[in-house]
Amino acid sequence: MRSVVSDLRKKGKTIGFVPTMGALHDGHISLVTRAKKENDAAVVSIFVNPAQFGPKEDFRRYPRNLKKDAKMCGKAGADFIFVPEAKEIYPEGYAAYVNVEGDLAKVLEAASRPGHFRGVATVVAKLFNIVLPDKAYFGEKDYQQLLVIKKMAEDLDLPVRIVPCPTVRERDGLAISSRNAYLSPEQRKTALVISRTLKKAVHAARDHGFTDAKKLSDSIRSAILSQPGIKLDYAAIRGGTTLEPVKRIEKGCVILIAAKVGKTRLIDNMRI
Ligand code: PAF
Repeated sequence: MRSVVSDLRKKGKTIGFVPTMGALHDGHISLVTRAKKENDAAVVSIFVNPAQFGPKEDFRRYPRNLKKDAKMCGKAGADFIFVPEAKEIYPEGYAAYVNVEGDLAKVLEAASRPGHFRGVATVVAKLFNIVLPDKAYFGEKDYQQLLVIKKMAEDLDLPVRIVPCPTVRERDGLAISSRNAYLSPEQRKTALVISRTLKKAVHAARDHGFTDAKKLSDSIRSAILSQPGIKLDYAAIRGGTTLEPVKRIEKGCVILIAAKVGKTRLIDNMRI
């Protein structure tokens, strides 16, 4: 990867980078297409990063299908895929980690998944150092991850532009995610309550001038809780750049939901 990158740089080519954990879907493909459109070369990394999974999470069973992923990358116009081994990224005795501090990396996903963003920030920083991209593309579906990575790149003066890309949804509104593969048809139906509730809440705030954040998040919570088969982790309305709690809903706020359907933890969000 380093020699590929050095070759591209010598030729004055720009590099667009899409870091992934594989199990690629239309959401990833939209990032690859954009990376290719906006740069001379598009690089996709595929690495299921052990450092961002908790001990009771789905690292072992996370879907892996390199052959299919490689085909999809090629079709979407990727020039290179980078598929490192865990022992190359974290050789024996590995000890350097990147921690983004402050409330942004303490709340919501960070509170539910201790150590998760430390793992994400570490691997993304390492991948940036290897791929040396001009631009890197991240989906807004993982909204807090996007903010944490932006903050890391800013605070560490990494010479890369972080490009946020809109969440891609199925026709019925379900946010596309690699973890949707775990859902049975029945669970998939249950999961729809998440995007439907978000859509209604955004509508209430944007089109009906609803501004009371507590009342709206209470009504989001009761809509989710009234659906059998789903366990709410959090439903929150936050400032769109720092995720600080808000009392009054304004343009730019974001509504975030995390919930478990069976054993599958799903997250989604919509901005107002
Ligand atoms: O969003 C993901 O797939 C992962 O968190 C990322 C950014 C590739 C880091 O492992």
